[in-house]
Amino acid sequence: MTTPSHLTARRSRALSGRTRAPGDKSMSHRALILGAMASGTTEIDGLLEGDDVLATARAVQAFGAGVERTGPGRWRVTGQGGFRQPDSLIDCGNAGTGVRLLMGAAAGYPVSAVFDGDASLRKRPMKRVAGPLVEMGARLDWLGEEDRLPVQVSGGALAAIDHTQSVASAQIKSAILLAGLNADGVTTVAEPERSRDHTERMLRAFGAEVGVEAVGEGWRVSLRGGQRLTGTAVWIPGDPSSAAFPLAAGLVVPGSSVTVEGVMLNPLRTGLFETWREMGADLTISNRRTAGGEEVGDVTARHSELSGVVVPEARAASMIDEYPILAVTAAFAEGETVMRGVGEMRVKESDRISLMVAGLRACGVDVAEEAEGFVVAGGAVPGGATVHTAHDHRIAMSHLVLGLAAERPVAVDEPDMIATSFPGFVELMRGLGADIAAST
Ligand code: S3P
Repeated sequence: MTTPSHLTARRSRALSGRTRAPGDKSMSHRALILGAMASGTTEIDGLLEGDDVLATARAVQAFGAGVERTGPGRWRVTGQGGFRQPDSLIDCGNAGTGVRLLMGAAAGYPVSAVFDGDASLRKRPMKRVAGPLVEMGARLDWLGEEDRLPVQVSGGALAAIDHTQSVASAQIKSAILLAGLNADGVTTVAEPERSRDHTERMLRAFGAEVGVEAVGEGWRVSLRGGQRLTGTAVWIPGDPSSAAFPLAAGLVVPGSSVTVEGVMLNPLRTGLFETWREMGADLTISNRRTAGGEEVGDVTARHSELSGVVVPEARAASMIDEYPILAVTAAFAEGETVMRGVGEMRVKESDRISLMVAGLRACGVDVAEEAEGFVVAGGAVPGGATVHTAHDHRIAMSHLVLGLAAERPVAVDEPDMIATSFPGFVELMRGLGADIAAST
């Protein structure tokens, strides 16, 4: 099948049905990387088979792990108890999480590897990871522009550091912890707010001890170097960041009721659901259970009359990838939705503040852009635009959801990027009754 150059979403009749979101992206990267760092076999169930994660699978294979797909979403990683010298460049594609965690992990071993990515990943800052790794004793050589990929990481003989982050970032925290696993001494990372803790949880599942101590609104995580990881079974629940799209469609398309089953409900990932509830969303969670060490549930969204809210800035870390789709639901809400303290959005797969502002404005929505945030004034959504997505999967999916309830169709470019995090998105949405079609 050839990939269409554009996708167009049209105003749809009520959406309904039950579906599942693909496996969590954050956990999928970590399961592959920790499996490769461990000794023995790791059986993964529910791996996200999106382009970002497949790039990480190829990367850990290049670092010497055995990687085998044993069924849909089922992968076996055979770790060598460490990374070996790769004989090729490590191409992380579009994946910021993949490259940053792999750089951290690789720094702890006596290997030298060149990391690179696609045009979008090459624009993203890497010094935030490189700085602490150099402080630990790794060598980093920028092969192009400073602070950008490609970069060569030469690792081994690291010393532990105490690192304090000014902005909570799970990627940086994880990179430092993965390096710290092979550093001399106890590595600590302090965060002003708590970022997602999948690395900490998974390190424990692989047999390492990880300390956590509350510090104000945040915490300090500590890890003693020299601990050995042992392969284990990892079950990966549905990604709340992906579930957000069909659920948002359920909220904004009149008459809808959409259920996404098996969604991970780790409290450090559910800021969007909390915010939607404050906006008046009819969002219910059933069948709550603990599975694979994470809280999981079935989430149902019914069409709701939403009202604008001020999103607390301290909530940003728990929903940083969800602001684009929040902005879409805000466009259909009564009144203003204020999203501030989210400057990090500018260094994601695209500058998500400026892309959302441009896309929503093109669709006739009133939006004010700020340096570290944006404000959406909800009401009528005329639509009738083609939105430039700058290679960003979440910008594409967000505007397609907008088009399902806008007055006129909304088209997006570069729809193939959706497969980085949500393969099968269009088919899944069509299965719920969404009118999304290929266009030129
Ligand atoms: C992620 C952390 C977040 C998020 C990204 C996934 C992770 O990035 O935006 O999509 O898996 O650790 P930051 O740590 O840079 O905030």
